[in-house]
Amino acid sequence: VTRIGIIVGSTRPGRKADSVARWVYENARSRDDAAFEIVDLADYDLPHLDEPNPAAASAGYEGAHTRKWAARIASLDGFVFVTPEYNHSTSGVLKNAIDFLYVEWHNKAAGFVSYGLSGGTRAVEHLRLVMGELQVADVRAQIGLSLFTDFTAENELRPAGHHAPLLATMLDQVIAWSNALSPLRRQAEVMRAHGS
Ligand SMILES: Cc1cc2nc3c(=O)[nH]c(=O)nc-3n(C[C@H](O)[C@H](O)[C@H](O)COP(=O)(O)O)c2cc1C
Repeated sequence: VTRIGIIVGSTRPGRKADSVARWVYENARSRDDAAFEIVDLADYDLPHLDEPNPAAASAGYEGAHTRKWAARIASLDGFVFVTPEYNHSTSGVLKNAIDFLYVEWHNKAAGFVSYGLSGGTRAVEHLRLVMGELQVADVRAQIGLSLFTDFTAENELRPAGHHAPLLATMLDQVIAWSNALSPLRRQAEVMRAHGS
């Protein structure tokens, strides 16, 4: 079964990211074309990147925290990145977590759910540039939640009605591209197993 990870892109105390990720999960879980799981960066406690070699050097990971994070991302076929907008970009904690790995991201698909004063769309634009470098196929449909109209005054998530159908479309696209790229993932695994 196709496995899609919903990556929670903030670890800030009082973060909105977890309620947004939960909304994605609750909308996705009844689908029978993929299995969904929440991947919470707060569970990984990654330091600022502390691997002596860049992940792209394929020299192996020294840190147990890196190996644990790598195993989780390697186990997934596609992603939904849940990202806040911090200073017109994504969060530092999410970028740092992305930078820890390389081959684990390759030939997979991704969609985005952002939030911010203007829907967090600038964070997604930056993430799309990063995805290109990591050979992640980023889909067109994206959800931008407004801090003004999709959350209550008590900061509870109450997404406007148009977001759920768009989320379904985005998930359709992520699943389709995750499946379409699976031969490339298998081929890369075989080549790695043969040391080439
Ligand atoms: C350091 C920082 C920078 C921010 N910059 C922006 C911004 O550029 N645009 C925006 O729409 N919201 C910005 N915000 C507001 C966040 O989108 C809002 O606080 C959101 O809840 C953060 O996500 P989180 O609660 O999951 O951490 C910023 C918040 C922080 C903490």
